[in-house]
Amino acid sequence: MLYALILAGGKGSRLYPLSRTHTPKQFLKVVNNKSFLVNTVERVAPIIDKENIFVVTNEMYKEKVKAELSDLNGNNVFTEPENKETATCIGLSAVKLLKKDKDAMLIVLPSDHFIEGQQSFIETIKNGVEIAERRRGIVTIGIKPTRPETGYGYIQMGDKIQSNVDTYRVSRFTEKPNIEVAKDFIITGNYLWNSGMFIFRADVILREIEKYLPQLYKNLTEIYKHVGEDDEEEVIKEQYKLIEGISIDFGVMQKTRKAYVVKCDFIWDDIGSFTALSRFLKQDNNNVRSDNVFLQDSENCAVFGKKNLIIGFGLKDLVIVDAGDVILVMDKYRDQEIKHLLNTLNEEE
Ligand code: GDD
Ligand code: MG
Repeated sequence: MLYALILAGGKGSRLYPLSRTHTPKQFLKVVNNKSFLVNTVERVAPIIDKENIFVVTNEMYKEKVKAELSDLNGNNVFTEPENKETATCIGLSAVKLLKKDKDAMLIVLPSDHFIEGQQSFIETIKNGVEIAERRRGIVTIGIKPTRPETGYGYIQMGDKIQSNVDTYRVSRFTEKPNIEVAKDFIITGNYLWNSGMFIFRADVILREIEKYLPQLYKNLTEIYKHVGEDDEEEVIKEQYKLIEGISIDFGVMQKTRKAYVVKCDFIWDDIGSFTALSRFLKQDNNNVRSDNVFLQDSENCAVFGKKNLIIGFGLKDLVIVDAGDVILVMDKYRDQEIKHLLNTLNEEE
């Protein structure tokens, strides 16, 4: 059976102070009047029955998820006691789904993306499912890169596996390279960005976790034994304490030999930083007032106001965010570093 698994437990700290611990990115309504999470569910709903759409999130967000997705059955929200990154939340969901269906096939979807081109999205996913089933592979969805972005994973395309569709073996996967490496990849030309969506059978991803993250596999095996039992929650809590968090990208994708990529042609943006958000909103730096922002003689700035009008004059390469209780001003070229800054700041995120 085919399942959608929506990852919705991240903190989205690169959009701090717009996104906060209590309202992370997946719940923000910045692209249309719907949250990223709702958009993610609606996108996949045409091909997956409601009862097969699952969300995995921190228990702190359970009620928020249920409120956003009111017609989703509460049992379809898997909760985690702590955030241990995506290899863990995917592994947990895989064991839970495998317990009820040994042929479970998962379409893993992050809940923090903007996508335009619904039909093409569906076609791409269908292709991916076909490859994941037939080849028992791990399928990624690749995006044609447009700049040396350091916040993404890069997929080097290997041999083409189908003549009529843009599908390849993955010859190398590099998660979040530094800027020099990212520039090299762009020049080389045969790299795609990893969209963060994955398609695989639950048994296949668990076998790869066993191979490359054996300790995590042990923890998951322990959990598997208790799925559906009275003490399931307790066991998850115990095992989570022992787990060292790692992302699926660093933990599995950089090592697996079973990866494939479907190159897509829909419009995709992770909107993972203020730079991305301003690109997306096409913010003007000169004489155009939008909402609470007015910039003049400025260049390459991203400014977001909430209540107060923000006026910028002669500014260059800055990000300014007024979230009401916090005002952030920073170098636009360092907007990926906000995560680390928050750690040292120890502020209530
Ligand atoms: N349940 C749960 N638990 N969800 C999580 C956790 C966790 O511990 N950590 C992250 N998530 C969710 C986030 O909410 C998001 O929807 C998704 O998993 C991906 O996590 P991010 O933290 O946003 O990852 P990233 O953007 O840095 O990198 C990933 O996505 C890029 C594209 O957007 C990687 O897959 C990159 O390779 C990729 O290019
Ligand atoms: Mg992201």
